[in-house]
Amino acid sequence: MRQKFTHLAYLTSRLSKQSQYYGTLTNKANKFLCYNYQNVEHTKKIERPASFESPACLREELLCKVADPARNGIDKVTIVGAGMVGVACANAILFQRISSHVAIVDPFPKKLEGEGMDYCHSSVFLDDPRIEFDTNFCISKDSKVVVITAGARQKEGENRLDLVKKNTNIMRNIIPPLVEYSPDAVFLIVSNPVDVLSWVAWKVSGLPVTRIIGAGCHLDTARFRCMIAKRLGISAKSVHGLVIGEHGDSQVPLWSGVNVAGVLFRDIIPHVGLELDEEGWNDLAKSVAKAGSTVRCLKGYSNTAVGLSAADITRDIIRNTLSVKSVSTSVQGHHNICQDLFLSLPCTIGASGVGQVIRMRITEYEKKLLHNSADVIHNVQKNIELS
Ligand SMILES: NC(=O)c1ccc[n+]([C@@H]2O[C@H](COP(=O)([O-])OP(=O)(O)OC[C@H]3O[C@@H](n4cnc5c(N)ncnc54)[C@H](O)[C@@H]3O)[C@@H](O)[C@H]2O)c1
Repeated sequence: MRQKFTHLAYLTSRLSKQSQYYGTLTNKANKFLCYNYQNVEHTKKIERPASFESPACLREELLCKVADPARNGIDKVTIVGAGMVGVACANAILFQRISSHVAIVDPFPKKLEGEGMDYCHSSVFLDDPRIEFDTNFCISKDSKVVVITAGARQKEGENRLDLVKKNTNIMRNIIPPLVEYSPDAVFLIVSNPVDVLSWVAWKVSGLPVTRIIGAGCHLDTARFRCMIAKRLGISAKSVHGLVIGEHGDSQVPLWSGVNVAGVLFRDIIPHVGLELDEEGWNDLAKSVAKAGSTVRCLKGYSNTAVGLSAADITRDIIRNTLSVKSVSTSVQGHHNICQDLFLSLPCTIGASGVGQVIRMRITEYEKKLLHNSADVIHNVQKNIELS
């Protein structure tokens, strides 16, 4: 076991020396320079340190190779960014057996080394998934889903839209090589501001718009259902409702459709969720919009719920479920929105990304709020230079 760790650490140190993050992206000669800790063929090529006792003889005595292993998963997921959110996404995907092949890319080799060792020690509990990590995008090759969590997170006093400049630049650098390595992948954008960055990712990628999905209001919808359920004292799964629009302050809770067992809240309280609502359901929706920053204030970051919500969308893509979720997609032409931008609307999600956008019956007031969301995003987006 100790030798295995030594070998792993050694490989990682080689990796950090040889694989420069941005350097290798454009350097064709180095393009395929990447190591897979489980790939015996690669490890053979690497010079061993003097203290390393090779287990090769034992391996050759023990294992009689009759064919090459075919383990390049049909369900490969790449996660870009090994921060709090990236690791939460990887955990949610691996713990729920959504994928058996996860690749993680981040510019910091030490962080990758630590995460890699941690996953290596976990593999026995996870049905032996294949987990790769590198600073080089080549490990993302042939992914079915690419989850983008790279980027700065919000600081105190910063709203999601303040992040736009920093994270747009990151997106411009990482999307082209990722598309080159996985031209058929569906891209799931999680980094904030997610609606703007999904649009940027689409523009930069040159992919069909349906193959870029923003995690959007899927998480807000979960928070909305959860908070209503808590107030009613029932399961969140039994509360049906949606949040659409911006994943941010201007999001739109669709009170007109909230129901339990088909009983619409609006049939009980006509003004439910509006300013006039004397039961204060409107405050609950405000808490949903602030939930991310509340969690961040309390624990320093938010990751578990977003990781699970991204894994949920990843499952839909890999299993082609055509499940309906409120995710960020191109909304031009929907509900009379004429700007070219991404916002959350309920969509079916499958192997080729977004399939259908549900034509919702929403009230005039909700439509007005959705248009306000579009204006908020448009005001930020119009200052972005893509070239
Ligand atoms: N959509 C949502 O619901 C939601 C919820 C929470 C956080 N987020 C967003 O997710 C993003 C990540 O948050 P976090 O808490 O993990 O931040 P973090 O600082 O913990 O991690 C960010 C990671 O991105 C990596 N990174 C930076 N530049 C990179 C690049 N060019 N290529 C690859 N990796 C790169 C960093 O090394 C770091 O490991 C932020 O934008 C945050 O706002 C979104």
